Amino acid sequence: MPRTARLFGRPTPRVDGVAKVTGAARYASDEPVANPAFAYLVTSTIARGRVAGLKLDKARAVAGVLDILTHDNVGALVKPPSQASGGATTTTLESDRVWHDGQIIAVVVAETFEAAREAAHKVEADYTAETPSATFGSPGAVSEPHKTTPERPDPAKGDAAAALADAAVRIDARYSTPTQHHNPMELFTTTCVWHGPRLTIYEGSQSMWGLKAAVARQLGIDPAQVRTVSHFVGGAFGSRGGTTSRTAWIAIAARRLGRPVKLVATREQGFTIVTYRAETRQRLALGATREGRLTALIHEGWEVTSRPSGYNVAGVDATARMYACPNIATAVHVTHADRNTPGFMRAPAETPYMFALESAMDELAYALAMDPIELRRVNDTAIDPVDGKRFSSRSLMACFDQAAARFGWARRDPRPQSMRDGDWLIGMGCATSTYPSNIGPAAVRLSVTPRGKATVQLAAHEIGTGAYTVVAITAAHSLGLRVEDVNVMLGDSDLPPVTVAGGSNNAATTASVVYKACEEVRSRMAAAAVKDSHSAFHRADPAALVLVGGALTGPRGAAEPFKKAFARVAGGVLEVHAENAPKGAKPDAVAGLYQGKSAMVSGMGRADFTTFAFGAHFVEVRVHARTREIRTPRVVSAFAAGTIVNPLTAYSQFMGGAIWGLSAALFEETQVDPRTARYVNKNLGDYIVPVNADTPDVEIIIVPEEDDGVNPLGIKGIGEIGIVGMNAAVANAVFHATGRRIRDLPIRAESLL
Ligand code: MOS
Repeated sequence: MPRTARLFGRPTPRVDGVAKVTGAARYASDEPVANPAFAYLVTSTIARGRVAGLKLDKARAVAGVLDILTHDNVGALVKPPSQASGGATTTTLESDRVWHDGQIIAVVVAETFEAAREAAHKVEADYTAETPSATFGSPGAVSEPHKTTPERPDPAKGDAAAALADAAVRIDARYSTPTQHHNPMELFTTTCVWHGPRLTIYEGSQSMWGLKAAVARQLGIDPAQVRTVSHFVGGAFGSRGGTTSRTAWIAIAARRLGRPVKLVATREQGFTIVTYRAETRQRLALGATREGRLTALIHEGWEVTSRPSGYNVAGVDATARMYACPNIATAVHVTHADRNTPGFMRAPAETPYMFALESAMDELAYALAMDPIELRRVNDTAIDPVDGKRFSSRSLMACFDQAAARFGWARRDPRPQSMRDGDWLIGMGCATSTYPSNIGPAAVRLSVTPRGKATVQLAAHEIGTGAYTVVAITAAHSLGLRVEDVNVMLGDSDLPPVTVAGGSNNAATTASVVYKACEEVRSRMAAAAVKDSHSAFHRADPAALVLVGGALTGPRGAAEPFKKAFARVAGGVLEVHAENAPKGAKPDAVAGLYQGKSAMVSGMGRADFTTFAFGAHFVEVRVHARTREIRTPRVVSAFAAGTIVNPLTAYSQFMGGAIWGLSAALFEETQVDPRTARYVNKNLGDYIVPVNADTPDVEIIIVPEEDDGVNPLGIKGIGEIGIVGMNAAVANAVFHATGRRIRDLPIRAESLL
């Protein structure tokens, strides 16, 4: 066990819990600004064409209207953002071009929200409309291979086509996953305030320094003049990872007006002014021996994107690494349609692509008459099958075994339609979950007082996952203090930079840099104690001295109160600035942070190890024999993700992921009208998500795992793994219940008629 693992593992309530439940926690649009004007967006009602003219007279006549921004009056003022949570963005007010449904074509600013809204609805747009392409198969949609780089080619080895042709047992099938939207509880908001040349932006973001740099670039101003603030984020899931066009336009509106401007976009507008999870089509082929050993894996994906963007998630990087296999071929294509640019959404790559792989593994298990857990065991591997590196750790089968035991898998009769309870057909399914363990560079400022109070400042992001608490736990335990003795400040670009909170890297990234700063304090205290002839530790090994329970402590239990040990290194407050570049980071990773670059080290991008977390989902479904209603009474999921900083919030994070996985399997789909390329169900009434009555007992097992290869603290990250594979576990359970293999999500009653 890494020496540092003792720091973690105690379930700790959120340090911000009371603030959140009492309304004291400020989300971006809650931040008080003096005398704001209110903005309301006007969005296009066509998906492709041009804005031929905007009639603004009726809108201007609404009492309280202050300004209306259109491409005619502000088009040249802003460069489009280079990326929007993943892809190159489609532009908005820069020209008269309409790239997608719901594109921003005007911004109305008024004394009140109501006046701005009324005026926005009185803006009359004339369009020169062209016939749009909605999605796969639409006339005019154009597919091309996605772009690869020498560092990141499509995974391939051996001769997969020949091995598939020669295989004793073969599966070769097509799968599809739909458009989905993040729909975070917090709406998409932006408030901009200018003080002379200095711009402050209040906006929920997963990248404080990234947003700062991107908006400065768009406006052509010095990034040092831009501050971004987002103390709490009401859900992000990738939707707030990048910069979208609205931020710079609100900044322009505020500058033109000489007054703060606040935008709270509507729920409906949130479907088109930010990104979403693109629909996919996939082909998955597996070849195996009669004993179930994989001999061939072919995975091809197609993903919808906008006209100008090549954005894609290419989940084959994960699926090609799941199982030992000598012959692998993968390919990814993008299909350009008249749509807004998709982007990151919780386990962007793994969620759709693992659906195909884990469904196909279940199909193969049936073709072999083999238990699906045993099929995964036969093909388990300690070696990354793509490039031959070792996994830093891989506890996949421990997850399967512990979850299977808890779930009661042994009671399952594997024959389809064999289990029944009255009118309900019972199905049990399982699937592998995984997520790469990523980590980024970060900086932190730590100050400690003689009385043992610490303040930790870094521009990390509280996107709901418990980031404040992770930092507080790390600092408290590293300094031997209590969690309540640590004050954590996050979510402000005036604080030291941290990489984007994406790719489940936050805990590993922030804990690593905070630990480093605390270690600096500990080692200074230890070094001073060793030199002091009056100290209990005179001439001891400084490396053997640790801070626990409010004291500097030696190996044989000798201890000195924190205050006494601290007094040797500082009279007043001791301030430490630390930066951390994780193993595998490029030499300029830390410097890049200060320019808003993310520079994450990916679980697949290291020279020494491949680093992934693994898990296993088990689900029971009940399908009504006549109505085909589908219920999911029971879920057991197990995860092994290295060091768990806070088991309490981790449990919730895993559970939330598992429930979202059920949602993706059975409910969620943003429907696109094939004629107009417009989203049909842009609201929370018609975008179906599970309510409590749809949500089963979810039991989470955290499988202990020690991994000092992934990073010194052994943290793999847990933000996204919970969702991955659950869609396949449900489809596999539906097959077991009904004998119907559904390869297109979501699975609804009508899929089974
Ligand atoms: Mo996540 S989709 O990397 O915010």
